[in-house]
Amino acid sequence: MLKSVPFNQTVAFQHLTKLKAEVEQTPLKELFTADSERFEKYSIRFEDILVDYSKNLINEKTKAALIALANECELDDAIERMFTGDLINKTENRAVLHVALRNRSNTPIAVGGEDVMPAVNAVLDKMKDFSEKVISGAWKGYSDQAITDVVNIGIGGSDLGPVMVTEALKPYKNHLNLHFVSNVDGTHIAEVLKKVNPETTLFLIASKTFTTQETMANAHSARDWFVANGGSLEAVAKHFVAISTNEKEVVKFGIDSANMFGFWDWVGGRYSLWSAIGLSIVLSIGFENFIELLEGAHAMDKHFRTTDFNENIPVILALVGIWYNNFFDADSHALLPYDQYMHRFAAYFQQGDMESNGKYVGRDGKAVDYQTGPIIWGEPGTNGQHAFYQLIHQGTKLIPCDFLAPAQSQNVIGNHHQLLLSNFFAQTEALMNGKTYEEVVAEFEKAGKSAEEIAELAPFKVFQGNRPTNSILFKKLTPRTLGSLVAMYEHKIFVQGVIWNIFSYDQWGVELGKQLANKILPELASEDSITSHDSSTNGLINAYKAWR
Ligand code: F6P
Repeated sequence: MLKSVPFNQTVAFQHLTKLKAEVEQTPLKELFTADSERFEKYSIRFEDILVDYSKNLINEKTKAALIALANECELDDAIERMFTGDLINKTENRAVLHVALRNRSNTPIAVGGEDVMPAVNAVLDKMKDFSEKVISGAWKGYSDQAITDVVNIGIGGSDLGPVMVTEALKPYKNHLNLHFVSNVDGTHIAEVLKKVNPETTLFLIASKTFTTQETMANAHSARDWFVANGGSLEAVAKHFVAISTNEKEVVKFGIDSANMFGFWDWVGGRYSLWSAIGLSIVLSIGFENFIELLEGAHAMDKHFRTTDFNENIPVILALVGIWYNNFFDADSHALLPYDQYMHRFAAYFQQGDMESNGKYVGRDGKAVDYQTGPIIWGEPGTNGQHAFYQLIHQGTKLIPCDFLAPAQSQNVIGNHHQLLLSNFFAQTEALMNGKTYEEVVAEFEKAGKSAEEIAELAPFKVFQGNRPTNSILFKKLTPRTLGSLVAMYEHKIFVQGVIWNIFSYDQWGVELGKQLANKILPELASEDSITSHDSSTNGLINAYKAWR
C-alpha cells in the first residue's frame, strides 16, 4: 500500500514556497545569459529522445528542492511498490501492473504470490497467432473471403489508446482498414457501417468490464447489422472477437471464449493499450511492430525505475509540472506535438492524466487543500498556433507547454519539415523571450511609423515572455520511440499522483453520471411529463419529449 504523506505539510513544500519569490526575480532568458551551459545542465537524453527542460522557471536550488519533495513523499518506495505488484490501487484493492504487459525482460512479477508473466506471454502469443492469420488472409469470413476491415468497438481506455497509436504509427500500417466506434451516438456506428462489408469485416469488442453501456449498445447494433446483412448468429464466431477481463459476459453476448483475448484487473483501462486491448494496433501494424512499441515502453520503465531522480525524465517532468500547478497556480498543461500523426496524443492523455489525477480526496481519505491534476489539452502544431496560441503568448494565464517533434519526417515533401520545425523551435523561444516595449518601438521606427502611431499600438505588441516550456525532440516517430514517449507520460502521471498523495488508479468520479443516466433512461421511454428531478432537468427532459 502507498504511504500517506501530506504534500503541503512537507519541509520541501515550505522551502519551495520561499524559493518561488526568488525565481520570479530573474527572467528566464537571463538564466540563459548567466549560464552558457544551461541547456546541457537541464536536458536529458534517452535513446533517440532529447528532453530539454531548460526553458523552465527553475534553477539549481529549485531543482534540488523539488527532488527533496519527491524524496520526502517517498517516491522511491512508491515506484518499487508499483513495479513489484503491491496493491497500490487501494480503493479497488488491485495492483497496478501495466509495466508487466511490456516486461520484455520477462523477469517474474508476482500478484498474490503468482507470477503474471506466463499469462501475459500466453495472451501475446494468442494475439500474434490470430493477427497473422487475419493479416495474411488465412482467417476467412463466413463467405470464405479474407478480412479487409477491422472495427474496434470500445470507449475510454478501450478506444483512445488504440486510436492514438494506430494514427501515430500509420506509416507502419498494412492493408487492413481500421475503424473505431466509441460514441453511443448512433451516428458513430452508422457512419462506420456504411463503409464496411459484413462478409469481410472483423469486429473487436473491446471492454475491460464488458458492461460499459456505450460499448455494449454498439456491439449489439453491430451484431444486429451483421445478421441482418447476410451474416448469421453462427457466423458471429468468424467476425466477432472480444477483448475483456469478463469471460462470463463475453460468453453471454454470444462470443465463444476461444475468440476472447483476456487481460486482468491489474490493468487500468487508461493503461491498457499494451494489453489485448492493443489487438487493433497489432492488426494495423503487425505483431513485430507492436513488440517494438512494448520494447520502447519497457526501456522507459527501466529508466524510470533505476535512474537517479536528477536525471530521471518522468520524475523531472512531474516535478516541473508540480512546480507550476502548486506554486504558480497554473491550472492547465498543453501537449503540443509537431507531428500530424500524433493528432490524438493530447486527447489520449486527457484521459490518462485527468482520469488518474483528477481527485480531491487524499490517500488519508480527507479532502486535500491544494491543487491536484491539471487540465490537459492540446492540438498538433502548427494548427494550434493559428487557434489558441494567442492566449498562451499574451493571455493572463500561465500555461506550461510540452512541445514534441520528430527530427525526421515520415513524409519528406519539399521543405515542409523544415517549415514545421522552424515553428517548433521558434515558439518556445518566443514564449521564453517575449518582446519588450523597447523592441516593439524599435521595430515600428524601422517600419517608418509615426511617434503617435507607435505610442498607440506599442502596448498591444509587447510579449511578457517568461512562459515555460519543455521541448521533447526525438529522432523519428517509430513504434519504439512512441512506446517510450507514452510510458514517459504514464510515469509522470504516477509520480504526480504519489506526491499529491492521491490514488491515481481508480476513477470513481465517472460513476455518478452513469448512475443518473441509468435512472433517466426509463423516464425517456414514456410520453409522461417528468417531475422527479430539479426544475432544470425536468424542463430539459420534457422539452426533449415535446420535440422528438
Ligand atoms: O470512463 C470510465 C471507464 O471506466 C474508463 O476508465 C475506461 O477506460 C472506460 O470506462 C471503458 O471501460 P471498459 O473497458 O470496461 O468498457
